[in-house]
Amino acid sequence: MNKKNIIIAPSILTADFTNLGSTIKELENIGADYIHLDIMDGVFVPPITFGAKVAKDIKQITELPLDAHLMVKNPQNHIESFANAGCSIISIHLEDNIHVHRILMSIKSYGVKAGIVINPHTAVSAIEPIIDYVDHILIMSVNPGYGGQEFIESTYKKIKDARDLIEKNNKNIHLAVDGGVNSKNIKRIIESGADFLIAGSAIVDAPNKQDAIDMLRNY
Ligand code: DX5
Ligand code: ZN
Repeated sequence: MNKKNIIIAPSILTADFTNLGSTIKELENIGADYIHLDIMDGVFVPPITFGAKVAKDIKQITELPLDAHLMVKNPQNHIESFANAGCSIISIHLEDNIHVHRILMSIKSYGVKAGIVINPHTAVSAIEPIIDYVDHILIMSVNPGYGGQEFIESTYKKIKDARDLIEKNNKNIHLAVDGGVNSKNIKRIIESGADFLIAGSAIVDAPNKQDAIDMLRNY
């Protein structure tokens, strides 16, 4: 994998939300490729973060594309508002969701990339029946809900399985990994087949965000 082709998407989950504007600008200036937005409703996962209004406000102050990760019950109720907020990717979880195909089609109808996310306990093979409707695959490498958790080792195998699935189906889509990504494990994550790295605490909580993102890029 060419290092230039690796996408780094910082998650703002652990940022100080009273300074969100300056954090977003800083992430843009240090070379982030996307801003990853963790949308949590207090039901699908315990915490509550923020909604489409905040996504829309962020979109006003950055040129960076927004990657919305919906950790919510009934994600179908929120597609329109996140699409109208200007998100470039909207990803929904396969778990606890009985209308995945319909929601993916709804995301696409707004001209937004439709992503599917799987939790650590869900096998990659569960994506296979809907692979033709997916523009983006996201493998969770922690159980969702919190930033700063430790990368789950069994994820490497799942990344390989997902890369195989993408290649077997001749898809030209990104394979993202989210949770516990840092400068120590990024090489192995990329070698396993990922090309879209979401990193929250490793960048946002670092004393120097530029050094942190450079370390990830020069893995
Ligand atoms: C977890 C979120 C992740 C996470 C990333 O539920 O989806 O985006 O916050 O943060 P780190 O990199 O700190 O694990
Ligand atoms: Zn996320």
